Amino acid sequence: MEIIICKTKEEASRKAADLVAALIKAKPKAVLGLATGSTPVPMYQYLAKDCAAGKISFKQVKSWNLDEYYGLAPTHDQSYRYFMDKNLFDHIDIAKKNTHVLNGLAKDWKKEVAAYEAAIKKAGGIDLQVLGIGSDGHIAFNEPGSSLTSRTRIVSLTPQTIKDNARFFKKAADVPKQALSMGVGSIMEARRIVLLAFGANKADAVKGAVEGGVSQFCTASALQMHQDCWFFCDAAAAAKLKLRKYYAWRAEEALKAEMGA
Ligand code: GLP
Repeated sequence: MEIIICKTKEEASRKAADLVAALIKAKPKAVLGLATGSTPVPMYQYLAKDCAAGKISFKQVKSWNLDEYYGLAPTHDQSYRYFMDKNLFDHIDIAKKNTHVLNGLAKDWKKEVAAYEAAIKKAGGIDLQVLGIGSDGHIAFNEPGSSLTSRTRIVSLTPQTIKDNARFFKKAADVPKQALSMGVGSIMEARRIVLLAFGANKADAVKGAVEGGVSQFCTASALQMHQDCWFFCDAAAAAKLKLRKYYAWRAEEALKAEMGA
């Protein structure tokens, strides 16, 4: 794990975007795993700017998203498909047919998730998976208690996640109680992982993920077992890390080496 701690979320987002852009330059047919939530938005904006400036092109890129609310149509303004279109896909030169989000209206969810996993496999697997983190340490919708070997499946959200996400809906009762989500085991198969965490309300989750024991009670902690995982945090999200000075000292060199600087 490399922990990159920046003063602001903008700086962290720019650095994370550089890592994504470097992959796309090196591999124009890259397969990306993408995340929703407010956290990756600034990084998506930087990638859109890079694309508009002709620095990168998504023309041959394929993407698969982590999760989708179960019961929401792709046209619903709180669906993750809608979110991805508005916050990224409509601003880059990606072919919409190459972007994949689980279908929240799938009648047979088992068929839907099996086809989703099979399609990722057929594309050669995910080169780089973008992640946010829930305030309870979840990744995608792998809530505390999810098996660390879980696959894409239907999940029930926790009251905490429903509360956290209620800000996007008219009222808490409108937040779906279930979602289709890639599993921890599925996520761990990505060749590289880039997790973003910003703000003081993520400090406990980051502490648990980086310095806690590997446990299904903080599913992000499974990332400690990943060979190529990068955390990009702002100062507030990193504030509770015991070894934060050491990470900062080490990460600067790692990032330079990675970007060929
Ligand atoms: C939801 C999503 C996660 C996301 C989390 C945090 O639970 N399924 O993928 O990481 O929200 O969202 P935010 O970035 O808005 O804090």
